[in-house]
Amino acid sequence: MARLIYFLAFIVGLVLVMNISSYQKNTVSNEKFDFQKVADMNAKKEKEIEELMKPKKEEVAEVKVVKAGPLVELTTPELQNGHDIYKAKCIVCHGKRGEGKAGQKAPSIGGQYDWYIKTQVANMKSGVRVNKVMNPYIARLSDQDISDLAQYVSKLPYMGRK
Ligand code: HEC
Repeated sequence: MARLIYFLAFIVGLVLVMNISSYQKNTVSNEKFDFQKVADMNAKKEKEIEELMKPKKEEVAEVKVVKAGPLVELTTPELQNGHDIYKAKCIVCHGKRGEGKAGQKAPSIGGQYDWYIKTQVANMKSGVRVNKVMNPYIARLSDQDISDLAQYVSKLPYMGRK
């Protein structure tokens, strides 16, 4: 029993001595707390975080620049004539893109088949189809004008289906 107690006392002593010696190895610093240094370190960390938060290059959505070109390329004299008449006589009710205007009760006609537009306007002119509001605008159009208009309007972006 006594031996066991001696042995335990020896172990405890050994642990104490080891602890004290390691304690002496601790370097004691009298350096003052350097606020500037810490502030600099923080700033550096913040910058690092900022860098990490930035989206990677691949992730940046490409901004496509879409040039707002003319609605219809006026490549022929017929299209040019159709455009001129449309602008002067039809745009007020049917809109720039042929999208129509509810306020005028004017339907969307942009992108409609050219043969349909031609037939309808011709029928309105001859009185087969009665359209009193449009009549003054089409009364003096020639067959060529109506055909050119139909060509132009059929090429306008169809607003009914986006
Ligand atoms: C004063 C307004 C007005 C002007 C200007 C006008 N329209 Fe119309 N247009 C209408 C209305 C309203 C209707 C619908 C008629 C109906 O209910 O039958 C219509 C219908 C049409 C239709 C038939 C659409 C369909 O689906 O059947 C065509 C094609 C058309 N217009 C072409 C023209 C063209 C081309 C011009 C220029 C020369 C023109 N419009 C100028 C008011 C107008």
